[in-house]
Amino acid sequence: MDIRVLQPSDIPHVQLANITNLPENYFLKYYLYHALSWPQLSYVAVDLSYADNHPGEPPKIVGYVLAKMEEEPTDGVQHGHITSLSVMRTHRRLGLAEKLMRQSQKAMVEAFGAKYVSLHVRVSNKAALHLYRDTLQFEVDKVEEKYYADGENAYSMRKDLTFLEEPESEDEDEDEAVGEDVDIDGDVPKEKKTKKKRNVKVGRGLGVADLQEVDGRA
Ligand SMILES: CC(C)(COP(=O)(O)OP(=O)(O)OC[C@H]1O[C@@H](n2cnc3c(N)ncnc32)[C@H](O)[C@@H]1OP(=O)(O)O)[C@@H](O)C(=O)NCCC(=O)NCCS
Repeated sequence: MDIRVLQPSDIPHVQLANITNLPENYFLKYYLYHALSWPQLSYVAVDLSYADNHPGEPPKIVGYVLAKMEEEPTDGVQHGHITSLSVMRTHRRLGLAEKLMRQSQKAMVEAFGAKYVSLHVRVSNKAALHLYRDTLQFEVDKVEEKYYADGENAYSMRKDLTFLEEPESEDEDEDEAVGEDVDIDGDVPKEKKTKKKRNVKVGRGLGVADLQEVDGRA
């Protein structure tokens, strides 16, 4: 089994897995929007043994996580969001969903400086709740009444990601201290030490702002 970044050519297979496993479905362009805007954040699980036995056929995608950055966070805090996650029945309980989620979370921090990740889950979805709450240590933020099209409530969950941030290196601090106030011993005062910022374009900057899902809730 291979876990790798989702490529645009995977999208029809991911869409098929989504339709097979979940009632929340999306137009192809919504997948493309994710893949183009945040190419680091969505992953697929590929059954490599299938490729060995079926040369020339497309890769067999048995699981995926579709993720994005929140473009206009209401709390002003940069964070990621899991739009959709599923694993084919034939490949469940192998740890694939956990691995897909961990890869995406890591990329949210490394590529976009995410402070936390959020998601919605049906209150009746025991397997997913076990995965999020017990295995991945998400916490319930609130209940969103009638969130889903059929009237079911959602748990809005979130997980802090700051534990994944790299510790500041001394070199980086020295680079940034050039031209800043320096105390008498040549040390940079503590409050002057700031982390390096990354400038990364997300969806709106790429001109795909108005794409929305139809049947699904992200
Ligand atoms: C939820 C889902 C993604 C889990 O995928 P998976 O690859 O089987 O999950 P994993 O093997 O990584 O298991 C992760 C954890 O979830 C638990 N889990 C998985 N399926 C479970 C089930 N049916 N009942 C209880 N716990 C379950 C596992 O025991 C594991 O916990 P552990 O730390 O005790 O081992 C999968 O069942 C699925 O695709 N369901 C349908 C789509 C869906 O509900 N997606 C989530 C929408 S929010």
